[in-house]
Amino acid sequence: MDENKLNELRKISGYEAAKFVENNFVVGLGTGRNARCFIDALAERINTENLNITSVPTSKGSEKYASEKGIKIKDMNEILNAETDKNKTYIDIDVDGADQVAEDFSLIKGYGGALTREKVIAKTAKKFICVVDETKISETKKLDVLIPVEVIPFAVNYVRHELKKRYNVNCMVMNKKDKDEIFTTDNGNFIILADFGEISNPKKLEDELNLISGVIENGIFAKRKPDIIIVGRENGVEILKFKNKKDYKKSTK
Ligand code: A5P
Repeated sequence: MDENKLNELRKISGYEAAKFVENNFVVGLGTGRNARCFIDALAERINTENLNITSVPTSKGSEKYASEKGIKIKDMNEILNAETDKNKTYIDIDVDGADQVAEDFSLIKGYGGALTREKVIAKTAKKFICVVDETKISETKKLDVLIPVEVIPFAVNYVRHELKKRYNVNCMVMNKKDKDEIFTTDNGNFIILADFGEISNPKKLEDELNLISGVIENGIFAKRKPDIIIVGRENGVEILKFKNKKDYKKSTK
């Protein structure tokens, strides 16, 4: 599918997601092309309806993009006070893209390098909406693309070595787009892309990868799945809602 068509699909899912935002909401802003379409739509709603919205971006890129559009920005640590706010949910809604979506709503994220902040914000959000174009839906229904793993630069070769030893997987360090230079995350870290092929137990792997010393976070979102997935399709927008495990099992029998 060509880039113009894909942009159309990103736009319709982003605009659909913006309909879920209500006045006085704190909104998590994802990273990537799909998330930007949501930011465009959100900015439009804020302006035309005079909404009072505070946003918490998942990357410096999204922060810049949103603030140029006049959206109010807050840092994650301003939203959450660890001393006083014990049981509150701090973000009303988080809207973010994905690199692959499996049938059970688990995701791979992080090709934009923002996976750690994205996971923190998704976990803090009352409602997590994933916006994707239809090419992101896994053809095998499972997760099978490269998994991004954020590591501290000091441990990059150690983590690569451990991944090879424990799982016999090929991995490489992610470069900047179209450049022969290592990509650095907003947190000052590197990303390893690991090829696990088809992942049979994403939850288990998500936990295991984070136990390797030097790993900050990985791009499997199998524990905090989106509540809603909005898919931009050539024939319109599709809204998928995750109810509970039982429902998912029923629907896949
Ligand atoms: C950023 O780190 C990623 O998780 C993005 O959400 C993901 O790569 C999707 O990006 P696009 O919407 O640009 O495809």
